[in-house]
Amino acid sequence: MAIIGSGPSGFYAAGQLLSTLGDGVEIDMYERLPTPFGLVRAGVAPDHPKIKSVIRVYEKTAANPNFRFFGNVEFGTHIHRHELDEHYHATIYAVGTPTDRTGDLPGEDLSGSWAATEFVGWYNGHPDYQDLSFDLSCERAVVVGNGNVAMDVARMLVLTPSELATTDIADQALEALAASKVKEILILGRRGPGQAAFTNPELREFGELSDADIAVEPEGLDLSDAVLEEGADGTATKNVEILREYAARAVVGHNKRIVLRFLSSPVAINGTDRVESITIARNELVVASDHKPRAQMTQERETVEAGLIFRAIGYRGIPLPQVPFDDHSGLIPNTGGRVLEGEGVLTGHYVVGWIKRGPSGVIGTNKKDSLETVNLLLDDYAAGKLSAPTAPHGAATEAFVLERRPNLVDYAGWEAIDSLEKSRGEPVGRPRIKMTRIDEMLDAVVRPPSE
Ligand SMILES: Cc1cc2nc3c(=O)[nH]c(=O)nc-3n(C[C@H](O)[C@H](O)[C@H](O)COP(=O)(O)OP(=O)(O)OC[C@H]3O[C@@H](n4cnc5c(N)ncnc54)[C@H](O)[C@@H]3O)c2cc1C
Ligand SMILES: NC(=O)c1ccc[n+]([C@@H]2O[C@H](COP(=O)([O-])OP(=O)(O)OC[C@H]3O[C@@H](n4cnc5c(N)ncnc54)[C@H](OP(=O)(O)O)[C@@H]3O)[C@@H](O)[C@H]2O)c1
Repeated sequence: MAIIGSGPSGFYAAGQLLSTLGDGVEIDMYERLPTPFGLVRAGVAPDHPKIKSVIRVYEKTAANPNFRFFGNVEFGTHIHRHELDEHYHATIYAVGTPTDRTGDLPGEDLSGSWAATEFVGWYNGHPDYQDLSFDLSCERAVVVGNGNVAMDVARMLVLTPSELATTDIADQALEALAASKVKEILILGRRGPGQAAFTNPELREFGELSDADIAVEPEGLDLSDAVLEEGADGTATKNVEILREYAARAVVGHNKRIVLRFLSSPVAINGTDRVESITIARNELVVASDHKPRAQMTQERETVEAGLIFRAIGYRGIPLPQVPFDDHSGLIPNTGGRVLEGEGVLTGHYVVGWIKRGPSGVIGTNKKDSLETVNLLLDDYAAGKLSAPTAPHGAATEAFVLERRPNLVDYAGWEAIDSLEKSRGEPVGRPRIKMTRIDEMLDAVVRPPSE
């Protein structure tokens, strides 16, 4: 079987197939980067190291002799769908949703207006984002969105240099954030406090920041009881409780502050050469017949000075060449994980993770999601409904991929990168110092530290 993408969903699918079929299955995992683990390496915030320990589970899967890692090989560039059909009984797409959902705001293209995907990729050392340069010389940044990514972005802007210095943040981001002049981060939620997508632990962290006050503007806080009755879950109820406690807090007088403002949507980003301000509309909540509270803009507007805008309004998938794609949802169309082409199922092609169900859910959510797909794949296997590869497998497949991508990085290659990163971090009390350039990673593979 081939798995495209080495994030949580790909690794869970691999682990589930190996534990069910044992020696009856061989898995080749293709990854466009030389490094595995998707958003666990390039998304999870540097100050949340415990979350990254889930990697140990994936390392166990990778140690299985029937598993091979083909890193630095991009589906659609170096290998293609019809070639996978020739080599494998099944292909599972686990490519995630790497780009941002655009808000189509006037002024969105101004310098200083960023997608959270860019900022997150930059501070986490993702090679695609290392040529970006964030000008952090302004005093106020605005983060649009009320999900956990918005929380990560805001928190990263207020952590102290010494707090950042013990993490695996990319070196250039560490340097830039240490010199940052940003003092206030205004977070805009288009709906009310009871509809925020962030979760309780992330909101609680805001109250425990060592050098930032937390302020909650009152609009919407009083609405919450009524709106919460419309099917609110425990997370929302607790969020509102925490927010009310924050709203009542006295200002401590830290150097920085995070301000949460609800019922607010940006309508324009203003500036001549770069972002100078943002115009914000006041919203009201309307509860539709489906009982879902929605934001409706009023005529009220306010313009707030800001030099940086981050859109954290969700991620979006990008099409893979020759693979069905639903432009409306930004996902690979599927039924339970079987890829759909037109009206029918595309034999031998499956999908897992964010590109299957959409960009939501924590790492663990992908386990159940992958299992649903793997179970259908196993049903198809039992019914003789997989692809019928014509090319020999094993060493022949690797030789074919190597021909296409001579600088393929196998799992031992990744382990060389991993150990070099850790050995660089250890003397300075950091979990690792990440390599952020592909060339540097490939050099580490060719010249392991012992040589
Ligand atoms: C900023 C951020 C922070 C997060 N923090 C947390 C957290 O703290 N805790 C938590 O539980 N969850 C967190 N999540 C959610 C979690 O990261 C996701 O649920 C999970 O990573 C989704 O897994 P996935 O395998 O579907 O996609 P991904 O993790 O995105 O993996 C996809 C992989 O496919 C590869 N790929 C893409 N295209 C190709 C191609 N053409 N060829 C080969 N390879 C390809 C990519 O390089 C990537 O490695 C966070 C998400 C984000 C965005
Ligand atoms: N620490 C963690 O565990 C952690 C960290 C990061 C990410 N994650 C997970 O990763 C997933 C993705 O997170 P995410 O933050 O990208 O997505 P998300 O949870 O879906 O949140 C997106 C936010 O953007 C808002 N939004 C969408 N379109 C908008 C628009 N046009 N204008 C203004 N606001 C808009 C949404 O508001 P509406 O609700 O009104 O649509 C919502 O508040 C989530 O499941 C999250 O929990 C987890």
